[in-house]
Amino acid sequence: MQKIDGIRHIIAVSSGKGGVGKSTIAVNLACSLAKLGLKTGLLDADIYGPNTPSMMGVAEQNPKVTEGSGSDQRLIPINKYGISLVSMGFLIEEGQPVIWRGPMLNSIIRQFLYQVEWNNLDFLVIDLPPGTGDAQISLSQSVPISGAIVVTTPQQVSLQDARRGLAMFKQLGVPLLGIVENMSVFIPPDMPGKKYEIVDDSNKGVPISISQPNKESSVVFGNLAQLIKNQFVNT
Ligand SMILES: Nc1ncnc2c1ncn2[C@@H]1O[C@H](COP(=O)(O)OP(=O)(O)OP(=O)(O)O)[C@@H](O)[C@H]1O
Ligand SMILES: [Mg+2]
Repeated sequence: MQKIDGIRHIIAVSSGKGGVGKSTIAVNLACSLAKLGLKTGLLDADIYGPNTPSMMGVAEQNPKVTEGSGSDQRLIPINKYGISLVSMGFLIEEGQPVIWRGPMLNSIIRQFLYQVEWNNLDFLVIDLPPGTGDAQISLSQSVPISGAIVVTTPQQVSLQDARRGLAMFKQLGVPLLGIVENMSVFIPPDMPGKKYEIVDDSNKGVPISISQPNKESSVVFGNLAQLIKNQFVNT
């Protein structure tokens, strides 16, 4: 493992399941650390689905490269809200897919760690892709991580995947800082005193289209099935 000169602590934000709010939490954690006066960087390690440039309002920017040649050159992060940001999103056309195999992912993550002009950061927050795959392993084996945060929603399926994430960090020897339970309640903006639990029928082991066939969402699933039938089954 190779510590990065000029970075004191690396915090990884991870989740088992996709779409639970990792990037939102990584971005807001980085902004909040910067607001405390700490020198903060944000590395978007979601190579396949980089979202941080648009969340930080810098999707149109292109990072510059330092002078020199070959391995001496360093990528200069984009600065916004006092945060140094690097993302694959700056290097590809918006809306284009990135189709890479594991070894290429490993090498781009290493480049993002070692070939970027990270200037004396107190914290580098890393926004990971979902799951327990190549990116997590590659990162954990490249640099010492001070701690990981696992993000989940209250739904059983997300918690199941979060447990896999916790076990992975344990196996990789990365200390766990804590779990963020996101999207647990809905607070109506016009009734801020009220709180609604977000109900999840998938916890019960009976899909809603079976348990409550007349409910609005079950009717929508029925319409979807009918459309597919009409498209593919000639009767
Ligand atoms: N607490 C919240 N309340 C409302 N919307 C939220 C909340 N957290 C996240 N979102 C929204 O949910 C969507 C998914 O969030 P986000 O992109 O941060 O998830 P992610 O875990 O990074 O997804 P991916 O696995 O695809 O990287 C975004 O549109 C985000 O704005
Ligand atoms: Mg994300």
